[in-house]
Amino acid sequence: MSMTPKALMAEAVKARKRAYAPYSRFPVGAALLAKDGRVFHGCNVENASYGLAVCAERNAVWKAVSEGVKDFAAIAVTARDGRGAPPCGSCRQVLHEFAPNAWVYWRDSRGHILKRKLTELLPSAFRLEELRGR
Ligand code: THU
Repeated sequence: MSMTPKALMAEAVKARKRAYAPYSRFPVGAALLAKDGRVFHGCNVENASYGLAVCAERNAVWKAVSEGVKDFAAIAVTARDGRGAPPCGSCRQVLHEFAPNAWVYWRDSRGHILKRKLTELLPSAFRLEELRGR
């Protein structure tokens, strides 16, 4: 499961090439690193019915979970060439379900990779088991 942020970002860049984003023209790629070392790629997939668009990060999570993998170490996200975007709020919530301690990598406007823990990006997350009468 050891993989540098730079190497995982390179996988996100590959994933972005498959983005289907004719409406926003904002292709996004994600590479989700599982603890067993596997990398799941995801891209955003849009639709003529705009609200049906699915983000790159969530596509990567759906792919992994549907293959039986739920333990994640890190996710890298990339948007435009040399630059990036952090995951949206919905994707933070979905990632938090499985991997609150995962690292999240994205790039600033100069192309430097930023590293944050998911718990830092989504404090006070909604977790049903904690809210149900403990
Ligand atoms: N998008 C992602 O893929 N990930 C995010 O975290 C934020 C937004 C996509 C959704 C849509 O296809 C496009 O970016 C513009 O919002």
